[in-house]
Amino acid sequence: MSKPIPIILDGDPGHDDAIAWMLAASSPALKILAVTSSSGNQTIEKTTDNALRIMALLGIDAPMAMGATKPLISPAQPAPSVHGESGLDGTDLPERAQEPVDMPAAELMAQVIAASPDPVVLVPTGPLTNIAALLLSHPEVKDNISRISLMGGGVTHGNWVPAAEFNILLDPEAADVVYRSGIPITMAGVDVTEKAMLTPEDFARIRAVGGRVANVYADLLEFFYQFHKSLGYPGAPIHDGVAVAWLLRPELFQGVEMHVDIETGGTYSRGATIGDAYHVGSKEPNALVLFEVDRPAFADLFVEAVSHWKEG
Ligand code: BDR
Ligand code: CA
Repeated sequence: MSKPIPIILDGDPGHDDAIAWMLAASSPALKILAVTSSSGNQTIEKTTDNALRIMALLGIDAPMAMGATKPLISPAQPAPSVHGESGLDGTDLPERAQEPVDMPAAELMAQVIAASPDPVVLVPTGPLTNIAALLLSHPEVKDNISRISLMGGGVTHGNWVPAAEFNILLDPEAADVVYRSGIPITMAGVDVTEKAMLTPEDFARIRAVGGRVANVYADLLEFFYQFHKSLGYPGAPIHDGVAVAWLLRPELFQGVEMHVDIETGGTYSRGATIGDAYHVGSKEPNALVLFEVDRPAFADLFVEAVSHWKEG
């Protein structure tokens, strides 16, 4: 078997972040070097606590650092309508088993990347504030980052406002730094993530696996579905799960290499990801933008992943 890909998980759990992290932790093909929290779905204090509780539940053995308290310029804008007041409502999680390290997220990432013998893949599933802080404060680590597989944006539409997706809308300046960095990006935007759904039948398959982890994840999925059901979705889109699933099974996805710019101004379009899908511009592609997913195989991945903790 080939060597595991070293990754850093940076997110704002968040139901779909927690689901993505479960997939990552289940796979011997990935090695989680560090976990960092971002301000997004809830306050940084809440997403940090949620991150630590998910790490305890899954037994993720890695250092964890708290991220920036707010986006680079914009104020924090939590989303309790989707993720609840805790940011991870709908289940009982264990207490944290460790404390964050005593340094900012960007610093932990820089140290871990510098110490890694193999190039690291960053997997951000919240606003890109910490990743921008890393690239601005430690540009030298870029050479040891092979890719950023992120959830954010959408070249055909938004989800929080018509033109912009939540993660990019919350911190467009950070996204701009990341998309201009020159590091190859895999962009799991709403173009694909809204098709990457788990349905109530899938939740039942996960619960049927049995054990604590399966039950917690079935609870989380059922809670996450309520918001989407109210919008008419037949299931819960596992946005953040795509950023991890693509690393494990890229053949389940179809995408197009193109140049993506971030709109940081705009009356209606702040936070938009402007993808040059028809290659009418002169800029080289900076992102593989995903559009299609084999949904049944995507769902199977999570059912299989949760089986990793069957005896728990
Ligand atoms: C993104 O926004 C958050 O609510 C989710 O966790 C996901 O990262 C989807 O737009
Ligand atoms: Ca997220």
